[in-house]
Amino acid sequence: MASAATTLPGFARHAHPAPRPGHERDAILANPGFGTAFTDHMVEIDYDAGQGWHDARVVPYGPIALDPAAAVLHYAQEIFEGMKAYRTGDGGIALFRPHANAARFNASARRLAMPELPEDLFVEAVRQQVLADSGWFPTVEGGSIYLRPFMFASEAFLGVRPSRAYKFMVIASPAGNYFKSGAPAVSIWVSEYTRAAPGGTGAAKCGGNYAASLVPTAEAFSRGHDQVLFLDAAEHRWIEELGGMNLFFVMADGSIVTPPLAGTILPGITRDSLIALAREEGLTVREERYALDQWRDDAASGKLLETFACGTAAVVTPVGKVADGHGEFVIGSGGPGQLTQKLRQRLVGIQRGEQADTHGWVHRIA
Ligand SMILES: Cc1ncc(COP(=O)(O)O)c(C=O)c1O
Repeated sequence: MASAATTLPGFARHAHPAPRPGHERDAILANPGFGTAFTDHMVEIDYDAGQGWHDARVVPYGPIALDPAAAVLHYAQEIFEGMKAYRTGDGGIALFRPHANAARFNASARRLAMPELPEDLFVEAVRQQVLADSGWFPTVEGGSIYLRPFMFASEAFLGVRPSRAYKFMVIASPAGNYFKSGAPAVSIWVSEYTRAAPGGTGAAKCGGNYAASLVPTAEAFSRGHDQVLFLDAAEHRWIEELGGMNLFFVMADGSIVTPPLAGTILPGITRDSLIALAREEGLTVREERYALDQWRDDAASGKLLETFACGTAAVVTPVGKVADGHGEFVIGSGGPGQLTQKLRQRLVGIQRGEQADTHGWVHRIA
């Protein structure tokens, strides 16, 4: 990073006076895990009703001061995004569809009564963050820098109304494999709890959704599963999504089914990308409701060949086993299916600049 307090367009830059020592960083980069270690810098931008967004800056990573009455601590007025920076084969750095994250961030902001951040400012903030810490790419296969842009209500006020002050930040974490087991196919627990109801915040990426998913997720882990699956709130019948991923069902007739975006599930950017890639492969993609009972029957009859989950963190992950309070069933051979692997390779290939980016999804920043 350049010397302290040089100014790029709009962003002040303050280099960390004591970045993490090389040997510590190297140890992290050789075994990054997920979300436990953070890079040397972070981005902050402030908002208040009078000035709008102001004071964009890259600063040393560290604790932030917050008034104990800050609205976020009481009413959870907070939203976030999850995205990755990739090292490309030619040594460059790329983001994947960052404007899609910016647009979804603003959709979340509208639902949580928060101010929108101009999309270009969002993408520039992410770019600044990555360039400040470009020495933090993991040295492990499949490594990337996971980026966490987020915004929270910072006004000190206990009335229940939208805050008048906010902070937007970006932090970054070197990332390896998302699933603890690193298993080729994951095991899913179907929860009795509901994640989102019609008219609620299911389509927004707000912290509160995830707070409500912690008990069901812990339940899944304690039963030996990797992820939790939520059904719809009204009938407890239709498959919605996993705790942090969307789902796809690969049928023997060459079609793929994925639950529709009806306001209760997160509109995943990986989901959207895979729909496009699957159509390119000549598959019919149906965004339709799919019931748990049907899934079980189709897996048994062979009508369903594969199921996979997708999201930024774990990219494309095969589902091998599904369990609920009544029993369990296996998908296909219980391991990764052919189409799952093909789509995964295609998406990862595009993200890393190894395959043709026919959709203009790759956003080079270096
Ligand atoms: C609840 C939920 N669904 C789906 C996704 C997948 O979204 P994306 O593909 O944009 O990462 C995420 C992840 O980030 C998520 O938290």
